[in-house]
This record gives sequence, structure tokens and C-alpha cells, in this order.
Amino acid sequence: MNTRDSEIMLQLLEQNGYLLSNDLASAEAVIVNTCSIRGKAEQKAYSFIGSLRRLKEDNPDLIIAVAGCVAQQEGQKMKVRMPHVDIILGPQSIYQLPDLFQQVANERKGIISTTQSKDFTIPSFLPSLKHGLPHKRFVTIMQGCNNYCTYCIVPYTRGQEVSRRRSDILAEVRHLVASGVREITLLGQNVNSYGNDQPQEERTSFPELLRQVAAVPGLVRLRFTTSNPKDLSPALMACFQDLDNLCHHFHLPVQSGSNAVLRAMNRRYTVEEYMAQVAGLRQACPDISLTTDIIVGFPGETAADFQATMDLMEKVRYDSAFSFKYSSRPPAKSCDFEDTVSDEEKVERLAIFQNRQREITGERYQEFVGRTLEVMIEGMSKMGNGQWSGRSSHNLIVNFHSPASYSPGDLEHVTITEGCLNSLRAELNKEKVKND
Ligand code: 5AD
Ligand code: SF4
Repeated sequence: MNTRDSEIMLQLLEQNGYLLSNDLASAEAVIVNTCSIRGKAEQKAYSFIGSLRRLKEDNPDLIIAVAGCVAQQEGQKMKVRMPHVDIILGPQSIYQLPDLFQQVANERKGIISTTQSKDFTIPSFLPSLKHGLPHKRFVTIMQGCNNYCTYCIVPYTRGQEVSRRRSDILAEVRHLVASGVREITLLGQNVNSYGNDQPQEERTSFPELLRQVAAVPGLVRLRFTTSNPKDLSPALMACFQDLDNLCHHFHLPVQSGSNAVLRAMNRRYTVEEYMAQVAGLRQACPDISLTTDIIVGFPGETAADFQATMDLMEKVRYDSAFSFKYSSRPPAKSCDFEDTVSDEEKVERLAIFQNRQREITGERYQEFVGRTLEVMIEGMSKMGNGQWSGRSSHNLIVNFHSPASYSPGDLEHVTITEGCLNSLRAELNKEKVKND
């Protein structure tokens, strides 16, 4: 979500005559896009913003803007703590950035733009393809979240759910595909709620939207993120049976394997319901790759609760997982819960979880050995060993040698020979197999 916001800000400024600089010391303006999902991210943002003070002292004309969730949340407080910042803007204000730059240049006074409106609409916007990999793009379909998981700051920083108009989304996808993009990821904090905020007569459900996007001629791969398991409908599962270009990957954050913790988190599903969703997805698409998010050390999490999370991971066998130590994020509700798990215990539980997940990932990779997969090329491997690198439909990184020359977005069929730590190794497949 933040990456997409950064792209939008960059494009808006370029349209207004600014040029992207790779050199912080000589830049005329600096924009820091921040994330506040966990305490660590916020501390990192503050320490970087603090380090810009020297630059401002050397060049008083430098414009410093801070965007994103930390800016939204801190507003005036940030201005007091970091007086060298000129513009503080929340996620709903990014579209005004060129105007805010102009205002600061003209009036030479600080601006705070953090208003959040229920009537906010995401402007229609045709993205440029000037930066980044040319073959894949994110398309925002909605902003904000109404779920209020008790640990989460997002509903406070990004506001209530606002869906983009379906016609704008389709126009953006068509424009991207016509410009050479082959893979699209639809983005939202909770994509299954897409359309719920729209008037009944104009409402499109997420599965319907997915079908319409998938039907855009020339779109080779379609992905989406993120889904709350409580809203995963049979209609969405059916999309995996029907849509050839829908990738075989589902990110389904579980957060905990204990019903008591899930209740305290206000996730509104049980472990049993979650497992039924996993079974439904695997029935619809036996080849589906599942990934998840886990929080360890939520207030009140006992050793038995943590063990329940470990048991769940053994049952699901995720291809990979993002795992975090619980972090208290005011004004999220869990800040009022007694933090019963010491930091040592959190560190220990995180290590236990991550070590086991690493093993399961390795075992899952082994299961791919011998299979022929279709890989979408991204470029040469970062390992610098002359290998090409691409991604499978499951979103796994696959590296292989080939005498051919590829452009990003090209497809190649390869046979998996080995599972490495974070990727698969493969060799060229002579018989090209379709649709693996
Ligand atoms: N502490 C730790 N992890 C968190 N996440 C969200 N809020 C917190 C928090 N307060 C994690 C969740 C979510 C992911 C994006 O970040 O696992 O799915
Ligand atoms: Fe946060 Fe829960 Fe919304 Fe995800 S669904 S953004 S964890 S409140």
C-alpha cells in the first residue's frame, strides 16, 4: 500500500516538473513515506526524519515532506518534535502533494494536511510506467479498514473503508495492460469488503470485480492482497476454479492459532472456521500456495495458546509466513490489555515459530522438485551468477540458467531441480508444458 502511495506521489510531482534524484544531499525536496503498523517502523521513521535536520540547516530552501501513517497519526505532535519538517500529510492527502509543495514555496510556512473524510473518493488516476519493473503493477481498489482488530492501528491511520469506482479500476487496468503490463495485483487492506461502502444499485462484489479484471484482454497474471479469513466467500474460492490467469497464491493472515487469542484480537473467526476456509481453497485449487501473518506475544497469550499457533502451522503447512512480535499501538484497543508476555518470551516464541517455518518452507520447496512451472521473468538473478530470475504463479522466486535473452514479463517453462533458502533452482524445460 505504501509502495503504491510512493509511486503516486512521484508521478504527481513528475507531472509538475520535478525530477527524481538519487542523491539526498543535493535534492531540493525530500519526501519520507512512513509506516506505523509496528512500533519499530515508527521509530525508524522518526530517526530518519531527525537525521534530515542537518540537510535543512545546510540548505534552508530544502522542502521536507512526511507522508503516510506516522504523519497521519502524529500531525501537530510531529511538527513540534521535528520543526524542520515543512509538510505533514496523511494517506488521503497524497493527491494534493504538488499543491502543498507550491504553497510551501510561496508562503514559506509549514502545512499539516491530515484530514480524514468519510466522503473521500480515490481520484481516477492513470499511472505512469516510468519507474520500476515494467511488467507488473499494483492497482489500489480500496483504502482503509473497518475491522478494528484490537492490535491494529490501520483503521485509525488510514480511516474507514473507501472503495474505488469499478470503472476507474477497470480503466486503470486496461491502461496498464495496453502499456505492456502483464501482471496486476489488486490492493486493499481487506479486499473482500470491496463495494460494501457503495450504494446498493452500484455495488460490485470483490469476486465480481476479480472476474471483470481477469477478463481484460492481455492480462497474463492477476493477484490480490489482503483478505480477512472471516470474509472469504465461496464465490471468491470459485474464482480459482474458473479464472485461468488468477495466480495460485493466497495470503490468508491467521494471526494466532488459539481461539481465546483470536477472540481477544477481535478477528471474528475461530481456528475451526479458518481451517474450513483453508480446506475450501485447497479443494478449489489443490495447487494453491498459502502464506500468512502471525503475531506472537499478544496480551494474555499463554504457552498453550502459542502451542496452538504452532499446531495450526503444522496442519496448514504455509509456503511462507510473516511473523511479528506483538507491538502496542495506541489508540488500538489492545493497548489497554495487560501485556502479560515478557519481551524475552516474545523473542523466544518468535524464534521458535520462525525456525519451524523455515523448515516447513524447505520441505514445501522439496515438493516442487521435478515439477515443470511457468515462470514470469523479472530479470537477471540478484545473486550475480548469470542466472535468470522469475516468479511462478505461486509467487515463488525461481532461478535458472538459459542461453536465451528475456525481457521482464516474458514466460518460460522450467523444471525445478532444487529448493534453496528463499528460492527454487530450475533448469530449462525443453518440452514446453502449458498452464502448470
Ligand atoms: N503488533 C504486531 N504485529 C502487527 N501487525 C499489525 N499490527 C500489529 C501489532 N500491533 C501485523 C499483522 C498484520 C501485518 C500486516 O502486521 O500480522 O497482518
Ligand atoms: Fe488491521 Fe484487522 Fe484491518 Fe487488517 S483487517 S488492516 S489487521 S484492522
